[in-house]
Amino acid sequence: MAAFTANIHSTADVADSATIATTTHVWHYAQVREQASIGDNCVVGRGAYIGTGVEVGDNCKIQNYALIYEPARVANGVFIGPAVVFTNDQFPRAINPDGTPKSASDWDAVGVTVHEGASIGANSVCIAPVTIGAWSLVGSGSTVVNDVADFALVVGNPARRIGWVGRAGRPLVDDGDGLWVCPVTAARYRQTAAHTLIELENS
Ligand SMILES: CC(C)(COP(=O)(O)OP(=O)(O)OC[C@H]1O[C@@H](n2cnc3c(N)ncnc32)[C@H](O)[C@@H]1OP(=O)(O)O)[C@@H](O)C(=O)NCCC(=O)NCCS
Repeated sequence: MAAFTANIHSTADVADSATIATTTHVWHYAQVREQASIGDNCVVGRGAYIGTGVEVGDNCKIQNYALIYEPARVANGVFIGPAVVFTNDQFPRAINPDGTPKSASDWDAVGVTVHEGASIGANSVCIAPVTIGAWSLVGSGSTVVNDVADFALVVGNPARRIGWVGRAGRPLVDDGDGLWVCPVTAARYRQTAAHTLIELENS
C-alpha cells in the first residue's frame, strides 16, 4: 500500500504502483488499485473503488461508493455520482461450464469510456463497453446500455435521450430550426442529426 500523504486519507488503500497527483484528494476507505492513474484536482470519495489500470483525467469528482471497474477510461472534468457502477464483464459467471472457478484468464474485461465534462447521476449503472459522450448527463438511477451522444440528457432503464444539455449541465431550450440555447449561459448549439448536437463557435 502506498505511504500516507497529506492528500490521501490514512484509511484509503492505494496501491504502490498507482499514480495520484498531489492536488487530488482520496478520502476515507477508498481503494485505488495497481497501475491506476488519477490526474490533478480530483476528488475520490469515501469507499470509492478505482480498478487496476483505470485512467482518470484532471478535475474529476468521483463520489462516495462509486465503483469504477477496469479497464474504464475517464477523461477530464467528469462527474461520477454516488454509488455509480461501471461494469467490466458483459456476460458474468463465477464458474466455468465444468464448475471450476473462473480466473482472470477465463474472461475478457471490457471498459466504460467517459468523455470530457460528462456527468453520471447517482446510482446509475453503465454497462461496458458503452461510451458516454462529452458534456452529456446521465440522470440518477439510469442503466446505460447504449452509447450516449455528446451533450445528450439520458434517463431511465434502459437510458434514453429525453433532451440535450450544454456545458453548464442545464437542459437546453429549443430555439427552432435545429438551434438549442442554454438558459444559463446563452451558449448556442445546433442539432445536425437525430443524435448529434454541436456547439456553435460564436456562442
Ligand atoms: C435527469 C435530470 C437532470 C432531469 O432534471 P430536470 O430537467 O429538472 O427534469 P424534470 O424533473 O423536469 O423531468 C423531466 C422528465 O424526466 C423524468 N426524469 C427526471 N429525472 C429522471 C431520472 N433520473 N430517471 C428517470 N426519469 C427521470 C421526469 O419524470 C420527467 O418525465 P415526464 O416528462 O414524463 O414527466 C435530473 O432529474 C437528475 O437525475 N439529475 C441527476 C441528479 C444526481 O444524480 N446528482 C448526483 C449528485 S447527488
